[in-house]
Amino acid sequence: MAASSSIDRRTVLDRDAILGHLTCQDPSGLFAAADRVRTQEHGDGVMIRGLLEISNHCNEQCLYCGLRAGNTSLQRFRMTREQIVTEAIAAARSGLETIILQAGEDWRFGPEVVAGIVAEIRKACDATITLSLGEFHRGAYALWRAAGADRYLLKFETSNQTLYSRLRPGRELRDRIACLATLKDLGYQVGSGNMVGLPGQTLGDLADDLLLMARLELDMAGIGPFIPHPRTPLADTMSPALIERNDRTAARACDLEDLTLRSVAIARLIMPGAHLPATTALGSLTSGAREKALKTGANVLMQDITPVALKSLYDIYPDRICRTESAAHCGSCMKNKIESVGRYVQSGHGDVRA
Ligand code: 5AD
Ligand code: SF4
Repeated sequence: MAASSSIDRRTVLDRDAILGHLTCQDPSGLFAAADRVRTQEHGDGVMIRGLLEISNHCNEQCLYCGLRAGNTSLQRFRMTREQIVTEAIAAARSGLETIILQAGEDWRFGPEVVAGIVAEIRKACDATITLSLGEFHRGAYALWRAAGADRYLLKFETSNQTLYSRLRPGRELRDRIACLATLKDLGYQVGSGNMVGLPGQTLGDLADDLLLMARLELDMAGIGPFIPHPRTPLADTMSPALIERNDRTAARACDLEDLTLRSVAIARLIMPGAHLPATTALGSLTSGAREKALKTGANVLMQDITPVALKSLYDIYPDRICRTESAAHCGSCMKNKIESVGRYVQSGHGDVRA
């Protein structure tokens, strides 16, 4: 839960003001304000979270995602319980204080199996354990919390209900919001977020996404660009939010980077205490974009700690950066990135500031 002192300090922006920031000619004032708030609230430390992708199996059919069950050309993998525990503990011993276990919605990782894995990692090290395994019933979330999970990541993806159900066939936004409420109620620190530039998404939807993040009082908000995957139904799509801004295909990456950075900056103003990652998707869109995000409000980086042989199979979107590098290489690369923008690697568990 965001601390009350942060709520007092947050800038209240209405929808029109947010739309103004998303469309104005020159966002430099917005970026500077976000950077100031980030400095005041979080200092110059950047947290690195270790992301372990434990399975790329998924039962779902999200139109945007390369892991969707319908993508039959993807070679699937599932790490064993022993592998997961070993990798997580090794990452914690190497200095990463938060380990995220992420997978598609894989029915083989049922409540008992995941609880066993969490308990084993918890027993062996004091890393903060974050889960990102999709939608489950309250009983499963409660079991994992009791086993030692501290945080949960579940993006709402878009706040537009109609668009949500179109992109996630058979699913409803309200169920996802209910999951987020359940997680909070169980004492998890909760992360969510959206994608920027989805086909069918307007600038108004993006403003609503940001307002929803603030309303949910998220501890973490991941804001990343949508990158079309060739093996999905959205392979050749274009977002109206970008068309509204008079940019067409050639300028897509550049404009999408700008729209994502603006979204991160606005999120920083309206949620000063929240952790905001400079997302891997943003870094995959344009090189150097993560460094820009660190200067426009972001204070977290994700380090992919999945074994190199499996990393490239976690093919959510094409041309993801850091797919072939070893954990050791990624660790020093992250440090260099952080130092290149005048910041330092923050140690500690990175709970939301009280
Ligand atoms: N482009 C960018 N991000 C994507 N995700 C899924 N597909 C894509 C894509 N094509 C993100 C979603 C999801 C997370 C696992 O990856 O936000 O929550
Ligand atoms: Fe599965 Fe998540 Fe991808 Fe949807 S976004 S297909 S639930 S991995």
